Amino acid sequence: MIKIICVCGARPNFMKIAPIMRAFNESGEFETLLVHTGQHYDKKMSHLFFDELNIPKPDINLEVGSGSHAVQTAEVMKRFEPVVQDFDPNYVLVVGDVNSTIACGLVAVKLGVKLVHVEAGLRSFDKGMPEEINRVLTDRISDLLFITEQSGIDNLKNEGVEDSRVHFVGNVMIDTLIANREKAAASDILEKMELTEKGYAVITLHRPSNVDDMENFNEIITAFEEIEKDMKLVFPIHPRTRNNIKGTELGKRVEAMKNLILLDPVGYLDFLCLTSNAALVMTDSGGIQEETTILGVPCMTLRENTERPVTITEGTNRLVHIDTDDILRNYNEIKEVNFDVSGKIPKFWDGKAAERIAKVLAVGD
Ligand code: UD1
Ligand code: UDP
Repeated sequence: MIKIICVCGARPNFMKIAPIMRAFNESGEFETLLVHTGQHYDKKMSHLFFDELNIPKPDINLEVGSGSHAVQTAEVMKRFEPVVQDFDPNYVLVVGDVNSTIACGLVAVKLGVKLVHVEAGLRSFDKGMPEEINRVLTDRISDLLFITEQSGIDNLKNEGVEDSRVHFVGNVMIDTLIANREKAAASDILEKMELTEKGYAVITLHRPSNVDDMENFNEIITAFEEIEKDMKLVFPIHPRTRNNIKGTELGKRVEAMKNLILLDPVGYLDFLCLTSNAALVMTDSGGIQEETTILGVPCMTLRENTERPVTITEGTNRLVHIDTDDILRNYNEIKEVNFDVSGKIPKFWDGKAAERIAKVLAVGD
């Protein structure tokens, strides 16, 4: 049996780890230990997804909670080290680019355990993003790198990573989308919220560059004040964002918008139902750029760059500057074509990425 510790910690990790755990269990070749670092801990940012996506209950929750980057990363490392020593795995597998990813990766390699990075090679080339630092460093120390799109291969080649360590397997987040699309279609969230198909836009925002910087946030909110005159805006708000605007002028403006519906974060199935039926998605999320590409729903990514360029070159995504006029210009362009945009499905985004990962690991390196 191959002993492997699988790590998850923050919201997008749960969608990525779900198909991987399933593939490992189905293969019969793996003895798994699922570790939740506790980076995200609210029911609606964590536990909910375990029930909805049938992820096994974590064997261990490190319960690190929130903190500065240094505190959070250090706390994960301190608590993860004895877990690795006790379980003595062949591999530690980490996904994505959050603080839990680099923290557990560092612990693994320093204990001489092989590190597997799922969703490797993505680059925004923007060191101002904490995720970019996490990605570059995790890839640098990983033994096996699983790639979601061609840019990942190109980036790793440019950084001198040997081809033999790199495997283009597709996108585990899309495995989850494909596995849950039918279930999501049965959600009653549209009726509950009195929304009509293509009659609303979905918003998510949580990047520090947008929501910790009040000047940038103001540019975005000012644009939403215009767009809400046209259509309903559904905004499941991330706790970082909610905390930042609580009691502020900007917060009051958000609450004053009659057509903007502010919600707590919603479950995966409700969220997928919302995005599937939306006219438009406006977001700064990484994963949602990929999901809208598969759904064929126009996505305005409110960022200066993306580490997921295939969502633009092949999908339905476009980058929009953090500037009220640019947001409105892009909105109007998409409105002019009736929110009808088309794209292609990127290579290997076919629901089978996790199976491919299990096969590669089962063969050994
Ligand atoms: C983290 C990831 C980011 C990812 C995002 C997904 C890092 C550096 N950032 O950002 O890459 O896109 O998750 O959602 O790892 N909070 C709660 N309840 C929770 C979790 C967080 O209230 O369950 C609040 C706390 O005030 C916390 C803040 O949100 O300080 C930020 O949480 P943190 O995990 O540090 O970063 P995110 O912004 O969530
Ligand atoms: N998501 C969700 N509920 C929400 C908002 C997002 O289930 O209220 C899902 C979304 O479908 C995607 C994932 O969360 O699968 C993306 O996570 P997030 O945007 O927090 O992180 P990022 O991808 O930016 O790292």
